[in-house]
Amino acid sequence: MSMLDVRNLHASYGDVAVLHDVNLHVDEGEIIAIVGSNGAGKTTLMRALSGLMTRSRRMSATGTVVLDGEDISRLIASRRLRRGMALVPEGRQVWPELSVEDNLLLGGFTRRRESTVVAEQLDYVLTTFPRLRERLQQDAGTLSGGEQQMLAIGRALVSRPRLMLFDEPSMGLAPVIVDQILSSITQLRDGGTTVVLVEQMVNLALEIADRGYVLERGHVVISGPAAELTANEQVRAAYLGVTSTTYESDTDD
Ligand SMILES: Nc1ncnc2c1ncn2[C@@H]1O[C@H](COP(=O)(O)OP(=O)(O)OP(=O)(O)O)[C@@H](O)[C@H]1O
Ligand SMILES: [Mg+2]
Repeated sequence: MSMLDVRNLHASYGDVAVLHDVNLHVDEGEIIAIVGSNGAGKTTLMRALSGLMTRSRRMSATGTVVLDGEDISRLIASRRLRRGMALVPEGRQVWPELSVEDNLLLGGFTRRRESTVVAEQLDYVLTTFPRLRERLQQDAGTLSGGEQQMLAIGRALVSRPRLMLFDEPSMGLAPVIVDQILSSITQLRDGGTTVVLVEQMVNLALEIADRGYVLERGHVVISGPAAELTANEQVRAAYLGVTSTTYESDTDD
C-alpha cells in the first residue's frame, strides 16, 4: 500500500478547471518530483493535497486522497497536517512581523497539547538549520531569502510530519543556497521523511528524486523513475533545455 494515493483528482478556481483527473501515488521513503511549466497546476496540486482548495475561497477539488489507507479528501487542512502531511508553500509565506521562534511555534499548533513533541522538533529544526538558532528572536521579515526558506521548512518540521510537500523551495535563491536546501531535503528523506518536491530546477530535482510526474495543463502526461524522465526526449527538450539535435558538426567547422 502506498503512503499517499491520489485518484481522479480534479481542481478548479470558480469555473476554471485547473487539474484534470490527476492520479499519482507516493510510497514511504520516496522523493517524488513534480515537474511542469508555469501555470501547469503544480501549486494547485499541492494545495489540493494539503486541503487548501476550500469552497469558501471559490476553489474546489474533487477526487480521492488517501493517506496511510485513510480517505482524507474531506478533511480540512489542519486535520491533514495533524495526520502527518505538511506543506512548505510556494513563496515561503513566513509571517514577517513575527520572530523566527514564533513562526516555528505556530508550525506546531496542531501539536500544541504535546509540548514535548514540539520542544523536540524545535531542537531538531535548530540543529538542522543553525542559522535559525542564531536568529531566533529576530523578525522573520529581516531574514535573507535562503534563511526564510529554512524557516518555512523548519515551520513545517515542527509538526513532525511523515510526508512533506515542497513547492519550489529553490525559487529566487543563489545556487549555493539551492544546493543547501536540496541537500537538507535529501537528509530529511534519509531520516525517514517522505517527500513530494515541486521544482523549476528540474535537473536538480530529478537528481535527488526516485520517481517523477510531469504535469502539463493540469494533466499528468509522463511518469516514471527519475532516471527514465531524465533520459526522456520530451522531458529533455521541454524541461532540461536539451534538444535532440547534436552540435558536433558545428564545432568541427
Ligand atoms: N487563486 C487562484 N484563482 C484563480 N486562478 C488561479 C489561482 N491560482 C492559480 N490559478 C490559475 O490556475 C492555473 C494553475 O496555477 P498554479 O499556480 O497551480 O500553477 P503552477 O504550475 O504552480 O505555476 P508556477 O510554475 O507559476 O508556480 C493557472 O492558470 C493560474 O492562473
Ligand atoms: Mg506554483
